[in-house]
Amino acid sequence: MSTQARPKRLSVTQIQSRKGGDKLVCLTAYTASVARLLDHEVDLLLVGDSLAMTVYGFDSTLPVTLDMMIAHGAAVVRSTEHALIVVDLPFGSYQASPEQAFRASARVLAETGAAAIKLEGGEEMAETVAFLARRGVPVMGHVGLTPQAVNALGGYRSRGHAAGEHDKIMRDGIAIAEAGAFSLVIEGTAESLARELTAAVAVPTIGIGGSPACDGQILVIDDMLGLFTEFTPRFVKRYRELGDEIRAAARDYAGEVRRGDFPAPEHTYPAPRRSKTSGHE
Ligand code: KIV
Repeated sequence: MSTQARPKRLSVTQIQSRKGGDKLVCLTAYTASVARLLDHEVDLLLVGDSLAMTVYGFDSTLPVTLDMMIAHGAAVVRSTEHALIVVDLPFGSYQASPEQAFRASARVLAETGAAAIKLEGGEEMAETVAFLARRGVPVMGHVGLTPQAVNALGGYRSRGHAAGEHDKIMRDGIAIAEAGAFSLVIEGTAESLARELTAAVAVPTIGIGGSPACDGQILVIDDMLGLFTEFTPRFVKRYRELGDEIRAAARDYAGEVRRGDFPAPEHTYPAPRRSKTSGHE
C-alpha cells in the first residue's frame, strides 16, 4: 500500500460551506484532456449539457441524451482528482416526475463517479429537488435563463428586468434552495436580481451573467478560450483566443506537409544498424 496520501477531492459540503466566503471558481469540462488541465485551477467542474453545442454542434442543448452525459461525466471524473464534479441532467430525463429524476440521477452518480447533478427550473422543480436531496442525491439548481426552456422562453435573452419576471425568478431560486439544493446557478439575469437572490438564499450562488456578488462564477470553457465563436453572450469574457491558435497550427502543419518539410529526420525511425555477427541489432 502506498504511504503517500492521495489528494482529496473537494466535497459537496465543502462547496456549500463557502457561502459568503472565498469565491468559488467553476468551469465546464467535457473531455479527459481538458478536465486534467483545469482540475487544480478550479473548485468545481460542471459537465454541462452545453456540450450539445460545443462538442456536438447542435444548435441548442435539447438533443443531448443521458447516455452522452454519462460518457462525458465518466471521462471527466477519471481524469481529475481535486475538483468537485457535477453532471447536468439533460432535457427530458427528469422533468416528468421526481421518480424519473431519481432514476436518471442514480445512473449519473453510479456510472460516472460524479458527486452531484444539476437540473434546471424553479418552483415547479422544488418537489423533485426535495425528493432527490432526501434520497442522498446532491443537487445544484439552475434558475434565470434556463437554456433547456429556450422554446418556452422564446430565445436566450437575459431575464428578470421586468417586475413580474424579477419576482418569479426570486421565488424560483428561493424555492430550489429551500428544497435542499446545495448550490444554485443564476444565469443571464439582471445584475441586481442575482445580487438580491444571493443575499436571500443560504446556499452558494454561482453566477454566469449574474453578478460579482454571487458566491462563485462559472463560464463555458469553449467560450472563455475562444473555441466557440458562433455567438458570444455579453457575459462571456474571452481569456484566450485558442481558436486562432489552432487555425494557425493547422496552417503551419499543412504548409510543412505540402513542402515535404514534415516529417523531419527526428520524427522518423532510422533503419536499425546492422551487426557484423547477427545481422540485426
Ligand atoms: O450546461 C452548461 O454549461 C451550464 C452552465 C452554463 C452553467 O449549465
